[in-house]
Amino acid sequence: MGLVIADETVERVRQAADIVEVIGEFVPLKRSGGTWRGPCPFHQGKNPNFSISPSHGSYHCFVCHESGDVFTFIRKRLGLDWPSAVKYIGEKVGIEVVDTPRRAQAPDPNAPNYEALAAAAEWFQGQLRDEQTGRPAREYLESRALDPHAWHRFGLGFAPRDPQALRRHLHALGVDDARQLECGILVHRDGEGEPRIRFRGRVMFPIQDELGRYVGFGGRAMGDEQPKYLNSPESSVFQKRRTLYGLHTAKQAMRRVERAIVVEGYLDAIRLSLAGLEEVVAPLGTALTEEQAHLLTRYTANVFLLYDSDEAGQKATFRSGLELLRARASVQVVSLPDGEDPDSFVHEHGRAGMEAQLGQAIDLFDRQVQLLERRGWFTDLRHRRTAIDKLLPTIRAAKEPLTRDMYLARLADVTHVDKATLSAEADALPEAGARRHPGRAVGGAGWGEGADESLRQGPPGDDAWAGFGREDEPAPLPPPPAEQRPAWTPRRRGYKPGPEWQATNVPPRPRRDEPVERALVRAMLVERGVAERVAERHPPDTFRDPAYRELFDVLLHAPLDNDLEQVAERLTPETLRVLRELTEAGAFDVVAADIGLSLCKLDVRVLERRVDELRVAMRGATREEHDTLMRERLEVEAEIRRLMPMRSPRGRPKAGGT
Ligand code: UTP
Ligand code: MN
Repeated sequence: MGLVIADETVERVRQAADIVEVIGEFVPLKRSGGTWRGPCPFHQGKNPNFSISPSHGSYHCFVCHESGDVFTFIRKRLGLDWPSAVKYIGEKVGIEVVDTPRRAQAPDPNAPNYEALAAAAEWFQGQLRDEQTGRPAREYLESRALDPHAWHRFGLGFAPRDPQALRRHLHALGVDDARQLECGILVHRDGEGEPRIRFRGRVMFPIQDELGRYVGFGGRAMGDEQPKYLNSPESSVFQKRRTLYGLHTAKQAMRRVERAIVVEGYLDAIRLSLAGLEEVVAPLGTALTEEQAHLLTRYTANVFLLYDSDEAGQKATFRSGLELLRARASVQVVSLPDGEDPDSFVHEHGRAGMEAQLGQAIDLFDRQVQLLERRGWFTDLRHRRTAIDKLLPTIRAAKEPLTRDMYLARLADVTHVDKATLSAEADALPEAGARRHPGRAVGGAGWGEGADESLRQGPPGDDAWAGFGREDEPAPLPPPPAEQRPAWTPRRRGYKPGPEWQATNVPPRPRRDEPVERALVRAMLVERGVAERVAERHPPDTFRDPAYRELFDVLLHAPLDNDLEQVAERLTPETLRVLRELTEAGAFDVVAADIGLSLCKLDVRVLERRVDELRVAMRGATREEHDTLMRERLEVEAEIRRLMPMRSPRGRPKAGGT
């Protein structure tokens, strides 16, 4: 361990490397939905059981269970040590990788700032735990349903009122006043003799950058003091417009589930993450900036905006949405019930409730059309003209050609204006100019250009959507038809049911009664990758319905170039009938979030079965065994509550029946 490569370099190489390309030099690969398959080089397999997931950045063999990332592969395959593997890939992607003896590494001029901030974070955590000093903060956090596990996970702390204690503590560690001032721990007001601690009497949320380094804090008042949140000032290590709260922990999850959720606040992010939706980030008190949008889309292009259900939240939604469209993301808007924020909603309804909301999200543009439609803006000519002006900036922002085209088609549809005319109108004003000169009105609309304005204090005149608030919104329309939901459209591996699958001579059969399994199998039929994704958490034999179980198993293992007919050949007659029934059920429309909800329900079911097993085992157990089993049972039950708080262990269907 004498040599080190900077973490940053490793991450840059990882991001630049295409895992499929790298491994493809050693293994013949074929695309299969979101993953790539080939024979496993580790156990010299013949069948395509070796799978690469570019979105995870990982590989896995279903037979010998070898798994890892692009570096692991090269290390094992070529028998290299870690630095050499990083260098090997670095060369391929044109990034110079230097490993230096630990001591000789060029010092990062910001390192002392990161260290000072990390030391402050640690001290705040200690104060929170301090029997006397920390009590009010602990009570506050408990009143917000945050327990010690949550404090630990998010590094929460407490800044006591004492204006000097932290300063002295940092002095003792060799962090001088200049350093403390530079990273915003101390403030020195004109006319005051001594500098003092910026944060006093506040609950502290440390903010980490993408690489996990401490860059600043948000401090929340415990009562009604203003401001509610006091944030660290901008500094050489902390630029709000480049920082996303939670990204450090969310980035892996975003790749894994191919989805990002954007919320407004610290607490919203924490609550979702605790509930298992780890792919969540929050900008720091502003709508998403251009930089933040780019940062996010490095991990996934599938973004859900989950803002408070108030006027400010709506404005921030549209502003953020446009930034994301410019970064070529697909943007879905989640509208929580009136008066709810993500924090309160997840607290009440759990992960499953939130997955259901995500499942009902609608595309950003559709949401805007919906708001105008409900106000009757498409009915007379004068309003229609204004409505078009309000919608054109969104079309201009949509840099992704397919998205832009879908938006134009939708606009043509609602306005009865020719699509080509609308397209020309959209092109008449350059989008880029709009962004560089936030003050200038574009298309008369002003959807909130100028992304760096504070979200809570919108600029004067930024009222394009004033009056479109939720208060008097009529009952929500049913979710739009499938073609209007661009979420999760890419990389769809279509099993287009041919005519033989719409056979009319199949006798009607009773509805099968495992909706979760049914939903997942349907998703697998559309996109093979889903079978693998489900199998990562629950193998086929967790399915109760024999036909769905068999379909899952066959789809997971069948060669990837098989079409539906070839898959069908492997099925028993009964399962074949089920397959026909599924394909007859019509258009296969699968949204990532629906899969999320089904997976979540499956998790709960598996956990509930474990509780039943534990109950049975406890009956015949010795005292000691009983305690161990009980401990596990409490843990499993807590996990179930986390997933579905509405479901009390007592209220669920009888044991064995589930
Ligand atoms: P909210 O007021 O919605 O905060 O502001 P919240 O996260 O729901 O907090 P609780 O539930 O009241 O504790 C959203 C975000 O805006 C920023 C913070 O980042 C906050 O999380 N903000 C808000 C500030 O920076 N300063 C403020 O005074 C208020
Ligand atoms: Mn809140």
